[in-house]
Amino acid sequence: MNTTPHTVDVAAATPYRIHIGPNLLDDGSWLARTLRGRQALLVSDANVAPLYAGRVEAALQAAGPGLRIARHVIAAGETEKTLANFSGTIDALAALGATRDACVFALGGGVVGDLAGFAAACWMRGIDIVQLPTTLLAMVDSSVGGKTAVDIPQGKNLVGAFHVPRAVLADTATLRTLPARELRAGLAEVIKYGAIVDADFLHWLDAHRDALLGGDDAALAQAIARSCAHKAAITTRDPLEHGDRALLNFGHTFGHAIEAEQGYGDGLNHGEAVAVGMLLAARLSATLGLASRADAEALRTLLQRFELPVDVPAGLTPEALLARMRLDKKAQASGLRFILWNGPGAARIVADVEEGAVLAVLRAEG
Ligand SMILES: NC(=O)c1ccc[n+]([C@@H]2O[C@H](COP(=O)([O-])OP(=O)(O)OC[C@H]3O[C@@H](n4cnc5c(N)ncnc54)[C@H](O)[C@@H]3O)[C@@H](O)[C@H]2O)c1
Repeated sequence: MNTTPHTVDVAAATPYRIHIGPNLLDDGSWLARTLRGRQALLVSDANVAPLYAGRVEAALQAAGPGLRIARHVIAAGETEKTLANFSGTIDALAALGATRDACVFALGGGVVGDLAGFAAACWMRGIDIVQLPTTLLAMVDSSVGGKTAVDIPQGKNLVGAFHVPRAVLADTATLRTLPARELRAGLAEVIKYGAIVDADFLHWLDAHRDALLGGDDAALAQAIARSCAHKAAITTRDPLEHGDRALLNFGHTFGHAIEAEQGYGDGLNHGEAVAVGMLLAARLSATLGLASRADAEALRTLLQRFELPVDVPAGLTPEALLARMRLDKKAQASGLRFILWNGPGAARIVADVEEGAVLAVLRAEG
């Protein structure tokens, strides 16, 4: 397979480009091209910074000798996507003396990307953010589309802003240090794109499973580029999630309920919860006559072939999960809203889903 970098152009109101390929983090000239001013804040976490922050800083410094660079490192994990860490990032921008043309570089997974993106969205009402995603999930999902947020005790991503990146640079070589479990979690989001808009992609993924799970650069870059192209197309059509963008939440209503109910930090991670959630959404679709049972079970087989979980973790009751879903942002005043499925490559938004059907699907699990 070809290993030249892929690019995906996102035709947002402010257009930007996604670059995907191995060792792109060492390309100082590319990093420097994204800079407008003389200050850069590199935000990362305690796992990623020791591995890659020095390289990014060296590449930036070589390309922009007059540049002032500061590094801000948070502890790793979803429990760190907090208002306190948002505040710490703002303090780091203040200490740097960041002006309106300063740039934040988010080096890490979705936690760092969402937190740093939100800080960039708020500092002086919005400065540049360049996303340097280092997890597969961040490469195919969180770094693209401009959603930024932090969590509060009442729920995930409840405080945030839309703020599109100036550019995204996905260095696939960073995936070599990513724990295998995190790689698989990212593959759940990749499968999601196939499920909602691209049936052929599902076949391609199945055929390239060994290469993808084995961390093959070329296969991963291709899967990332195709996923980003889908996310770009959907978010360009509907940047603020008034319609179609919600399709990207396939599996997320169930997934978020699982994540919230088990408590962040333990149990399934985001991608794994989405894997279980997609299967539950497919089964709910079958129960409502929108998709065939055979298609739902074929999705289960594919998820299992990618070594992803397909069962609700023990101890989470259907009633408790339903209560969580009622609180979900995607629930409307009138009732539960789900992204349901019409089979491979076809999803739709359905409002007022009967709670009884949701409970039946969850109870059939146990
Ligand atoms: N903004 C959006 O549109 C959007 C979309 C999807 C998900 N998200 C958010 O993304 C977050 C999940 O992101 P995630 O799955 O990337 O989690 P994460 O950022 O917590 O990263 C997972 C783990 O991998 C480590 N890690 C990251 N890159 C590494 C590397 N290359 N080598 C070794 N270790 C590495 C991290 O330190 C962390 O421990 C959630 O908060 C979710 O809400 C946002």
